[in-house]
Amino acid sequence: MRKVLCAGNWKMNLAPLAAKNFGDELRVALGEHDEGARSVREGKIELALMPPFVSMASLRGALEDLPVVVGAQNCHWESQGAFTGEISAPMLAELGCRYVIIGHSERRHLFGETDEMTLHKVRAVLGAGMTPVFCVGELLEEREENRTLLVLERQLRAVLPHMSSEDAQHRFIVAYEPVWAIGTGKVASEQDAQDACQFIRDLVSTCCGAAAAVAMRILYGGSVKPENAAGLVAQPDVDGFLVGGASIKVSSLMGIVKASSRKA
Ligand code: PGA
Repeated sequence: MRKVLCAGNWKMNLAPLAAKNFGDELRVALGEHDEGARSVREGKIELALMPPFVSMASLRGALEDLPVVVGAQNCHWESQGAFTGEISAPMLAELGCRYVIIGHSERRHLFGETDEMTLHKVRAVLGAGMTPVFCVGELLEEREENRTLLVLERQLRAVLPHMSSEDAQHRFIVAYEPVWAIGTGKVASEQDAQDACQFIRDLVSTCCGAAAAVAMRILYGGSVKPENAAGLVAQPDVDGFLVGGASIKVSSLMGIVKASSRKA
């Protein structure tokens, strides 16, 4: 079975000192008797945090020996060179990152990231031995024009046909994040999340084969909170969450973990 993943995308929040304090607080929370903490300790749920680059080291230090992995929110596709302000995949691998978010809607829509760039980045992340968390999702106007599935298909076809079946099966995660639900408090309905995730899984099967479709984890993201997580993760094709706002507080992150542990 696919292990439930709760991944926290901190975005541009929590500087190094705040990240260390978060790690210290998380250590206490993970030691408690709550079913969410137990699921993480027993390896039934995977917990990952994606801090800003500058907070990676202090967070990693605070999390030492805890069953929590770290990831990054972006990377450049070249491994080194004259790319002022960029960070490469091998640099992140050296820092101990397991995951790198690629194609987040804020990268696509605020920073002009194209489908072609996402493919270069996916290749770089895989080449450095890490796993891309590949984000797809439609804008509100695209949903209103009934173009949701077309958008998801375009975003996914930019990368899936270029992947080996081995990578698709073991080293790729998709996050369905409807753009209108990100940071807005408007969550997708359980049925809409399921329909999109099922469509994605069917497309993975077409492009990469049935084994990859069965193995690949597909997350939902967009205004996930402790109160709505249980119903979403109960959907058969939702394998966990990419959480933004609710991941920068230990209490709400652990509330989501607890709600998810019912599926673990
Ligand atoms: P949100 O963000 O949980 O704050 O809506 C999700 C994301 O952008 O990954």
